[in-house]
Amino acid sequence: MSGKLATEYAAWQKLQRTYDTENTRLILSDLFAQDPNRFSKFSKEYVDATDPATTFLLDYSKNLITQPILDTLLSLAREAQVETYRDKMFAGEHINTSEDRAVLHVALRNFDDFQIQESGVEEVGGVLAHIKEFSEAVRSGSWKGYTGKTINTIVNIGIGGSDLGPVMVTEALKPYAKRDLTVYFVSNIDGTHIAETTRVCDPERTLFIIASKTFTTQETITNAESARDWFLSFAKDKAHVAKHFVALSTNKNAVQAFGIDTANMFQFWDWVGGRYSLWSAIGLSIALYIGYDNFESLLKGAHSMDKHFKETPLENNLPVLLAVIGIWYNDFYGAQTHALLPYDQYLHKFADYFQQGDMESNGKFVTKGGQRVDYQTGPIIWGAAGTNGQHSFYQLVHQGTKLIPADFIAPATSHNPIANSKHHRILLSNFFAQPEALAFGKTEEQVRKELGSGTSEALVKSKVFEGNRPSNSILFPLMTPRMLGALIALYEHKIFTQGVIWGINSFDQMGVELGKVLAKNILSQLDKPSDVIGHDSSTTGLIQYYQKYRKE
Ligand code: F6P
Repeated sequence: MSGKLATEYAAWQKLQRTYDTENTRLILSDLFAQDPNRFSKFSKEYVDATDPATTFLLDYSKNLITQPILDTLLSLAREAQVETYRDKMFAGEHINTSEDRAVLHVALRNFDDFQIQESGVEEVGGVLAHIKEFSEAVRSGSWKGYTGKTINTIVNIGIGGSDLGPVMVTEALKPYAKRDLTVYFVSNIDGTHIAETTRVCDPERTLFIIASKTFTTQETITNAESARDWFLSFAKDKAHVAKHFVALSTNKNAVQAFGIDTANMFQFWDWVGGRYSLWSAIGLSIALYIGYDNFESLLKGAHSMDKHFKETPLENNLPVLLAVIGIWYNDFYGAQTHALLPYDQYLHKFADYFQQGDMESNGKFVTKGGQRVDYQTGPIIWGAAGTNGQHSFYQLVHQGTKLIPADFIAPATSHNPIANSKHHRILLSNFFAQPEALAFGKTEEQVRKELGSGTSEALVKSKVFEGNRPSNSILFPLMTPRMLGALIALYEHKIFTQGVIWGINSFDQMGVELGKVLAKNILSQLDKPSDVIGHDSSTTGLIQYYQKYRKE
């Protein structure tokens, strides 16, 4: 991120020339046939330096790369000064330039190592202690509701980064949960979400967590007000709110104005981006559900990955490798999307989580210097868990006309080894088979041989798998809090690295503003047709059709 457009880097131009001259020769079956050591050359084992049991294998050998291509991709990272910007992030420099903020989610999980100068960093330990104390009080039953009963239901009200991280992590780490505690997440402004949630809650035993960095987000505040109204319809006395509502926010005044006791406010700081906030007070629902010690293990797993990212030379640096390989497809092969495909039901929200993590970070067309890019930036992130996708969208991934790089992610051991791990062995056989099928496909010759003579040409052609579709595979022993922390941080730093190479600010989200402003204006015009002014004919027509048919 030297103030240049990425296309101006010498390494970028070399990659373009390489792509133009070599892409038709980059055939995975040939690359594997030519080099029996390809797997060992293009795979790495991550071992947590503090806890060696936290380990995973990253196999990136099924990518359309050669060593010279990878070397040039890494030169690109060097030319873009990834190392310099990484160090600036860890030092607390204000690399979020448009908002003049540091980017310090790494400070939320900094257990011993990094020296970071930024106001608020010294308060992290105190907030963690508050989370520990509170989560233990609720879990042990010493925290009581307004009628003296213990809490058995947590409702986290938040949206975007104040929702998706806790949703994903509580699902991923369910095996570690206190099962007599139920956690719900309300995010959507659609009244159905809060109504269907409170319908199954007992007001005497429910704790609402109002999670909002700004405490001004329309969806969250509206849902929080409706939750408070619902609660007070039973509890009657506003004094009881203190036992049933807590806030996670940077905005003390707004929390107070809402009526939440600031003793029950868990603070964080403007240098924590929403989509990087599950490590902060935003993780309170996680600590409540899986216990503080497990929450801390999650943070420690991420911290070890932070150290790996900070200290490992680029050629062995796993987030950097994932990042540059992603750029190869995104910017040279023209791939529009990247699929995250965890073969682990507990990770069924992983792709949803990184949709915000990646797309809100790197969905930008202007560089930090204000220039319009002349290349592609962040990919569309999507995906689903387990074999379900194989029975829906994998058809297109295997035989469609689009190149879809994918990451396959799986644990070697299941938390639910039912039927002598029969399920898990079947699951993993698919986890191994899909990248193999994508990479090597099935030739026309093979199909012909299988079907025998007399088969129609059309049928033969329809059964051909061209292959040569790239993927990464990530395999780890067992999903633990520490492992999940490492996995999330791996992707966070991948996103960071790509953003630096593209020269964009991965830490603001200006693109969400326009819709908010227009919706506010439209909200004030919804009463009657004569109020609907200042719009195009389509928007006016839609609003007026709504006004004709609504029943309220
Ligand atoms: O959608 C924009 C956004 O600002 C996200 O970046 C953020 O995670 C979400 O809204 C919620 O914001 P808050 O935590 O301030 O309610």
